[in-house]
Amino acid sequence: MKEIATLKNIESPANMLEQFQAEVNEGLSDTNKSLPSKYFYNKKGDDLFVKIMHLPEYYVTRSEHEIFKEKSYSIIKSLNLDPDQYFELIELGAGDGTKTKELLSQLVAGNYSFDYLPIDISQNALDQLELDLSVTMPQVSVKTKQGDYFEVLESLKENQHPKIILFLGSNIGNMSDDIASNFINNLSQTLAFGDKLFLGVDLIKPASVVLPAYNDNQGVTAAFNLNLLERINTELEADFAIYDFKHQPEYDEKEGIATSFLVSKKNQEVFIKKLNRTFNFSKGEKILTEISRKYNDEILKKIITNTAFVIKDKITDSKKYFANYILERV
Ligand code: AVJ
Repeated sequence: MKEIATLKNIESPANMLEQFQAEVNEGLSDTNKSLPSKYFYNKKGDDLFVKIMHLPEYYVTRSEHEIFKEKSYSIIKSLNLDPDQYFELIELGAGDGTKTKELLSQLVAGNYSFDYLPIDISQNALDQLELDLSVTMPQVSVKTKQGDYFEVLESLKENQHPKIILFLGSNIGNMSDDIASNFINNLSQTLAFGDKLFLGVDLIKPASVVLPAYNDNQGVTAAFNLNLLERINTELEADFAIYDFKHQPEYDEKEGIATSFLVSKKNQEVFIKKLNRTFNFSKGEKILTEISRKYNDEILKKIITNTAFVIKDKITDSKKYFANYILERV
């Protein structure tokens, strides 16, 4: 998991395909095989992820939504906003806006002066969000920014306006702690004194809650994981027999790290034409496809040591499953 600039990638440019090819080759050549989770998100993967967000077992989205719905007043208070001071509300990743809309409507009601700037690599995701907001929240000034997070943030750095960055959904959980630390440090470099990072993270909790969230009854998460192999079949002309692999989530409750694997059900060979290479899988061999890190104060503090952020506040849902931390650039 080397990618720090973007969590999602899109199906298009030639260098994307080249990068996909190189990363698949690298991941499957390792003694402990792995594939980067950012490749989950093609059209089919996006649709499956929307289904995941609505699953009864997947508490993550619902818990953060509860915070936005029930506590948007506290959010605004802890962001220390002044109704007379214009600011930029910047969101990393466009999403469907469900959570952010709760906050936007409170800001509108409070007569705050701001622009909402969702950044995403996918123009399509931005167009959908913009259209939705133009109908449901016409009072909000939306300025979509297509591109790499850091390139866009770098360009915004030039103006002197106060900034709030939203990075929600425990998307940071897909990064190792080292990469997360690097990522947050890079974010801090694009901000000025007093700016805020509003960070959504899934909290450490028992395996009895976490594991079902990654192993739902309807098999949606399994299909989401296996779609990675389908994508390699289509885009890299491979011959993975999807039914000869199975989805396997694991959770280290002490560490607070959930991992997803694809396990080979038998000894088998897979040929990837675009790489002109055959890969061997032994029965029971695992491919690591995702880490979903869970947090507590201690872990987050460690991650932000050596960055220019301090923890200002923390808002949780009623079950304390999820937290939104307010980090301030010092
Ligand atoms: C979007 C990274 C927060 O790790 O919980 C959901 C992705 N993977 N089910 C997560 C995911 C399997 C999700 N994040």
